[in-house]
Amino acid sequence: MENKVKVDGLTFVPYLKEEEIKKQIARIGAELRKDLEGSAPVFLCVLNGAFIFAADLIREVGINEGRVAFVRYASYEGTASTGHVRQLTGLTEDLTGKDVVIIEDIVDTGLTAKTMIDDVWKKNPKSVRFVTLLHRPESSKTGFRPDYAAFEIPPKFIIGYGLDLDGKVRNLRDIYVIEEE
Ligand code: IMP
Ligand code: MG
Repeated sequence: MENKVKVDGLTFVPYLKEEEIKKQIARIGAELRKDLEGSAPVFLCVLNGAFIFAADLIREVGINEGRVAFVRYASYEGTASTGHVRQLTGLTEDLTGKDVVIIEDIVDTGLTAKTMIDDVWKKNPKSVRFVTLLHRPESSKTGFRPDYAAFEIPPKFIIGYGLDLDGKVRNLRDIYVIEEE
């Protein structure tokens, strides 16, 4: 594990290791496998941040009948939420009568999650579940609670394992937190 990561003048220190991330994904993957038994779900990966998590999660869930689709939203600039949620790539997949599993990297204010769930329900699915790798309950502005979360974390900016700082450092295997001043 690299010790510190410097990007755009900010320093990040190790927070969650690859092995710990894998372990928690195996845990929620097993839960989903049980809850989706007999279903042919649609896994809706939220780009860009959730692509690595989604790749690992769908393999843990292990339902061969499942499909994968992608949607793209953005709300962050640098290390802070803008408060505006923008849909950048729309939902083209037919979700009628489907069990939909939204896969997100992190729930912060909950604004993105709420917007997305509303958009998905407009497509007449049978059910909607929301899975996130990380949840910051203390940052919630909406009262939204994900159905599944691999980790609950405090309100500090993090990077790695798909999560970015202005598009960079998504490649890191571990998750890093911004260093305290
Ligand atoms: P929310 O709408 O405030 O819940 O923000 C959720 C979105 O903000 C996530 O999908 C991420 O793309 C982004 N985000 C929130 N916190 C972080 C972070 O600590 N690092 C990187 N991206 C973040
Ligand atoms: Mg995101």
